[in-house]
Amino acid sequence: MKLKESTAGEKRGTAPGGGGRILVLHGPNLNLLGEREPELYGHTTLAHIDQELREVGAELGYSVESFQSNSEGALVDRIQAARGRLVGLIINPAAFTHTSIAIRDALAMLGVPMVEVHLSNIYRREPFRHHSTIADLVDGRIVGLGAHGYVLALRAVAHMVEARRSSQSS
Ligand code: DQA
Repeated sequence: MKLKESTAGEKRGTAPGGGGRILVLHGPNLNLLGEREPELYGHTTLAHIDQELREVGAELGYSVESFQSNSEGALVDRIQAARGRLVGLIINPAAFTHTSIAIRDALAMLGVPMVEVHLSNIYRREPFRHHSTIADLVDGRIVGLGAHGYVLALRAVAHMVEARRSSQSS
């Protein structure tokens, strides 16, 4: 279902009758999901994950937009462009998880519910993957559940958006 948005709604990231826009960000090498180390990351492609997120989002009343880049600067630019235009965010920064202060600083400006996702269980892997620059910034984290982790993250973000709205309206 395509949500029609007003100009004011567009600015806030909310849509009349809808829950608003949720942005999904994918970091480097995730464009190769399906082909890339499938024993670690599974056989599902990124296009399939994004399609499922759009469908589940529409069922929940949200418009889900996805963006993948292999470049840290492009991810920072996309986060900056989303300021004031989204209600929630899901991010798998991939390798930038372990290194990027720039992505952390950009996310810190958003002020919306955020969930970090990793397909693999990063705590079962090399020690350098155990540190995340955004772990303490995000509201929640889902690791090791493969592609399904994104759907769980979307439901969690939607739940937090609604909880926030009902606490603001009461
Ligand atoms: C990953 C884990 C990272 O350590 C790795 O660099 C990735 C993918 C994951 O989804 O499991 O590219 O974020």
